[in-house]
Amino acid sequence: MSATANPKSGEARCPGISVQDLLARDSRPVPAYLTSQNYSFLGDEDIPYERYTSQAFFDQEVERLWPRTWQWACREEHIPESGDYYVYDVGPYSVIVTRTESGEIKAYRNSCMHRGTKLKPSFSSGASFSIRCPYHGWDWNLDGTLKSFPCEWDFPHVRAEAMSLTPVRLGLWGGFVFINLDPDAPPLLEYLDPLPKHIDSRVFEERYVAQHIQKELNCNWKIASEAFLEAYHVMETHSQLMRTNGDANTQYDFYGDHVSRLINVAGSPSTFLKEAMTEQEILDLFLIGDRDDVAEGLVVPEGGNARQVMAQHFRDSVGKKGPDLSQVSDSEIVDSIAYFVFPNQQFFSGVSFPIVYRFRPLGMHEDRALFDLILLKPRPTDGTRVEPALPVWLKAEESYTIVPGMDPYVGEVFDQDTGNMQAAHEGALAAAKPGATLGNYQEVRIRHFHQTLSKYLGSTD
Ligand code: FES
Ligand SMILES: [Fe+2]
Repeated sequence: MSATANPKSGEARCPGISVQDLLARDSRPVPAYLTSQNYSFLGDEDIPYERYTSQAFFDQEVERLWPRTWQWACREEHIPESGDYYVYDVGPYSVIVTRTESGEIKAYRNSCMHRGTKLKPSFSSGASFSIRCPYHGWDWNLDGTLKSFPCEWDFPHVRAEAMSLTPVRLGLWGGFVFINLDPDAPPLLEYLDPLPKHIDSRVFEERYVAQHIQKELNCNWKIASEAFLEAYHVMETHSQLMRTNGDANTQYDFYGDHVSRLINVAGSPSTFLKEAMTEQEILDLFLIGDRDDVAEGLVVPEGGNARQVMAQHFRDSVGKKGPDLSQVSDSEIVDSIAYFVFPNQQFFSGVSFPIVYRFRPLGMHEDRALFDLILLKPRPTDGTRVEPALPVWLKAEESYTIVPGMDPYVGEVFDQDTGNMQAAHEGALAAAKPGATLGNYQEVRIRHFHQTLSKYLGSTD
């Protein structure tokens, strides 16, 4: 079926209550960025499985995608002092992000200018007064200039000015340090548009990394990322969520080449739930989960609803310690509002569960990926410094529920998500059918992603 076969393609929506209907019942005015929709039909051709399984396709991504896109490498709180560094790795690329003596943040290729040795181990972080190669001891200042190297008499052909570490472009937004290996890439804020217009950067700046989990996955990095670009899978994969969360009525939007969004409502059951739920029953279930300051015994008043009660509870409890939430809408507090930024990252702006995802290939393997999950919490308003949580590394077969501090209910949801991924990759290899078939609306963010990917790779399939 071609994109033009049916003029109605992409117009159908889930029966039952829509996100916009629910936003209209909010106890506060809902900002325009949420009451707007930005969807159009992008075609309905299958997505070739070789995009996930072929080493040649992976190699094209290494050549044309990863070195040209903005990716967050670390948070500013990872490198608070001069000399602190953090290494970001993606496929074969490795970048050192550090803070110089003057307090400026800089990024360099993690490769020695002598014979190329990695200056800092992959996935490492720490502090050092200079950046010194472990092989022969060439040494660089934090600002990237060459400080010294042994046996200078043997290198009359080396000019120190030409041997500075190779700088990498860097941009800051929301407390995240983004890098881009392409000196000609568009500026970060232009690339992120309209995210910085929709979400005040302070939403993320005023938080710190309270939990960080890195999970290895036996699948292509795109299979992992795409599992979080749609809520179509919720009914089957997370059926326990149907009593408290929307699924097929989730709203999907995309903007330009680099940004897409979903709004998945909480406190409103699935349209396809067989049982009838009262607002009080929804609220009682809603209280399970990784929600700080959860209070038992909340009651839905006559004429009220679970969403409003839960949102007000957050205003009263969390808002007391952090930013003023008195005018923030119910939706911005309780719903999952997730912005995807091409190629590999998602930012959840919701107040009650501010999480961030990042996906990347692990090494040079098209069937290995690393999934970073971070949970952000408000930093103390009195200026006390809080240490970002160290990452906990999970093997593919390990459960999120073993991570210290992980809410078991939330851990189970991530286990369900990551539990599909190896089968999705292996099934793509086992298929006779050449590609994946997508829903026109619910899976449009996956299609949007692939269309942008094609632009970067210079192909049109
Ligand atoms: S390779 Fe780095 S000092 Fe020789
Ligand atoms: Fe999921």
